[in-house]
Amino acid sequence: MLQNALQFSHTLLKEILTDYDHVVDATMGNGNDTLFLAQTVQPNGKVYAFDVQKQALLKTQQRLVDNKLMEHTELIQDGHEHIENYLTEDEAIKAAIFNLGYLPKSDKTLTTLPATTRKALDILLKHLSDKGRIVIVSYYGHAGGKEELTMVDHYCQNLPQDQYNVLRYQFINQKNDPPILFCIEKK
Ligand SMILES: C[S@@+](CC[C@H](N)C(=O)[O-])C[C@H]1O[C@@H](n2cnc3c(N)ncnc32)[C@H](O)[C@@H]1O
Repeated sequence: MLQNALQFSHTLLKEILTDYDHVVDATMGNGNDTLFLAQTVQPNGKVYAFDVQKQALLKTQQRLVDNKLMEHTELIQDGHEHIENYLTEDEAIKAAIFNLGYLPKSDKTLTTLPATTRKALDILLKHLSDKGRIVIVSYYGHAGGKEELTMVDHYCQNLPQDQYNVLRYQFINQKNDPPILFCIEKK
């Protein structure tokens, strides 16, 4: 069966990650991607995970502790637009993942936003290794979601073909705004 956007996001990352890579979860939320990344790059790699909400950090921290993965992960309560403050100047990032939207079962008005998402993408592209990938899963059913989807779509479409491969993956016959996945791969 075809993979949904979430499943495919992990497939795309698993294909390229090794146990010494540095990676970024730009939207920690309940920690699903942080946990997956920590499992994939341990024991020598490192995961930087960002969220603006304390509750996301606490939930993710508990899941990492339960799975004995804390030592491979830095949980950061800050916006992903400030990623630069946490990386060294020439630090190579092999992969990053964004799940755009709001934290499920939480405040629906606290969402990722086009300007800050764009800034984080700009920073990550500067640090992305050759053959590295940035995966963006866009949930856009909420207020402001379509504007953010449009920003991501334009951003991805305008990346130069000689430097990046860019993919858009979506189901086109499903109701209720199923998420759309973008993957930027540095050549
Ligand atoms: C769709 S949820 C992420 C789901 C998550 N990947 C998971 O596994 O549960 C989006 C998250 O982005 C967070 N967020 C919003 N603005 C942010 C920002 N500027 N920087 C980092 N995280 C942000 C929200 O607090 C929310 O937890």
